[in-house]
Parts: sequence; C-alpha cells; structure tokens
Amino acid sequence: MNFENLEVKKQDRIGWITINRPEKLNALNSETIKELQEAFVSYQKDPEVSVVILTGSGEKAFVAGADIGELAGLDAAAGREYVLKGQELSRIIENFDKPVIAAVNGYALGGGTELALACHIRIASDNAKMGQPEVKLGLIPGYGGTQRLARLVGKGLAMELILSGKTIDAAEALRIGLVNAVVSLDELKGACEKLAASMAANAPKALEYAIEAINGGLDKTLDEGLHFEADLFGKTCATEDSKEGTKAFLEKRKPEFQGK
Ligand code: COA
Repeated sequence: MNFENLEVKKQDRIGWITINRPEKLNALNSETIKELQEAFVSYQKDPEVSVVILTGSGEKAFVAGADIGELAGLDAAAGREYVLKGQELSRIIENFDKPVIAAVNGYALGGGTELALACHIRIASDNAKMGQPEVKLGLIPGYGGTQRLARLVGKGLAMELILSGKTIDAAEALRIGLVNAVVSLDELKGACEKLAASMAANAPKALEYAIEAINGGLDKTLDEGLHFEADLFGKTCATEDSKEGTKAFLEKRKPEFQGK
C-alpha cells in the first residue's frame, strides 16, 4: 500500500497506520480520510493483521483536527457531504472486526478526538491534549463527536467539552474516561504494542463477535442486548477456535487458534 499522507507497516500481527502530515499537525484533509479508509479496508482483509494501531507522526500531534482550510467556505450541502465522508470512515473503524487502538501522541483536537473516539481503545501519551474546539470556529463536531463523546463520557461532560470548546490534558482525559490509559510519550508505542499483543493472542472470531456485541448492544434495550449477546455467544460456540480454546484449557496447554 502506497499512500501520500499515511505510513503503514505490519509487524508481529499488528497493522500500524501513522497519519503523516506533520507540517499540518496531521490534520485530516479529504485525501487523508480517503487513504485511511483504504488502509483500514486493506487490513480488514489481511490475515496477517490481528490488531490495528492508529497514530500520528511526530511527537506533537495525533491529529489536530479536520483540515480547517477545507472547511472554510463550505455551504450547507457541501458541509453535510464533507462530514458524511468522515463519518463513513469512523463507522468503518468503529465496526472493524479486529481491535483498533488509538495511540494518541499529542494534540487530538476536533476530528482528532473524533477519530480516537471511533477506535475501540485509546491510549494517550502524557503530552496529549484533547477536545472539541469546533464551536470556536463557528462549527460543531461533524465526525461523530456529538454522538460518541456523550456515549463514552456521559451527556453532561460532552456538553461541557463541546459547548466550551476547551482543551483538556491527558490526566483529565483519563479521569473522565475519554482515554483508557496514559503513559509517557517514550512508552506509548510499547504500551500499545503490549496491549495489541495480548489481544492478538486471542481467538479472532471471539474478538470480532465481542466487538459486535458491545457496539450493537449500546443501541438496544438491555433485554434486546442480552438476546443479541446470547446469539453471538452461540455463534462463538460454533467456531473451531472455541473448541480448541476450551479443550486447551482442560488439557493445560496453550490454545492454537486458527481464526475459524
Ligand atoms: N487544519 C489545518 N491546518 C492545521 C490544523 C488544522 N486543524 N491544525 C494545525 N494546522 C497547521 C497550522 O495552520 C500550521 O500550518 P502553517 O505552518 O502552514 O501555518 C501548522 O499546522 C502548525 O500549527 P500551529 O498552529 O503553528 O502550531 P501550534 O503549536 O502553534 O498550535 C494547535 C497547535 C493544535 C493548538 C493549533 O494548531 C490549533 O489550534 N489547530 C487547530 C485545532 C482545531 O481547531 N481543530 C479542530 C478543527 S475542526
């Protein structure tokens, strides 16, 4: 895969995607959104990739937002079309059938926080700064921020962050549950790799169904969600890997999962 604005590499079952526009603090222009979509679709089909880690190049920014140059001058119809493309990418990431970890290595503002929100897990470096500053530009979040932030941290905190447009540091992001963990910038890559490796060791179909169960359940009543979970649990019981996993436990050995 050759990209203008991304670096991609595969290593130890991890598919790395690094957004690479450091001179613009990795701001998401249309081309980058398109390339991200292509990179995710390619990793989805790649049997050598079990977990994806998404990060930004350099030591300053994960993603400093949607490209403000492209936002300037959009009319109602063009603005709607513009954000729908980012939303499409965020749905691909959110519903990805392998775990996706955001390694938030600095500024993650606007579309940067939204991109991280679409990932399954967020690990931040201690220099990370997050927030939804769109109202300062006369806009609102459009890549899912109003929806996913409220679902993740609760309505009150989402209102506070989005209406003030304020930037919070990594410690505050951890306190409110916006990120799962904070480590030093030096440790960020290693911490994400360690977490990714712990996931990659598990049965791929179980990971896929667990993601589906958690994502799908949030839109359902508890009863509907429990039925949904039971259906997916049944599907995992029908996999070869669940036979192998349970058998290996009983035989006191490590399982060898085939992703079937
Ligand atoms: N879109 C387009 N370009 C951006 C950008 C964005 N979201 N964020 C940063 N850049 C560009 C700057 O314009 C600058 O480009 P230039 O050197 O050609 O002038 C370059 O990236 C470096 O940014 P700069 O502002 O000089 O760095 P800084 O360290 O002084 O400030 C930020 C860093 C993140 C605080 C500041 O860049 C910023 O506020 N960015 C916009 C954040 C935002 O509102 N995001 C939401 C968009 S919806």
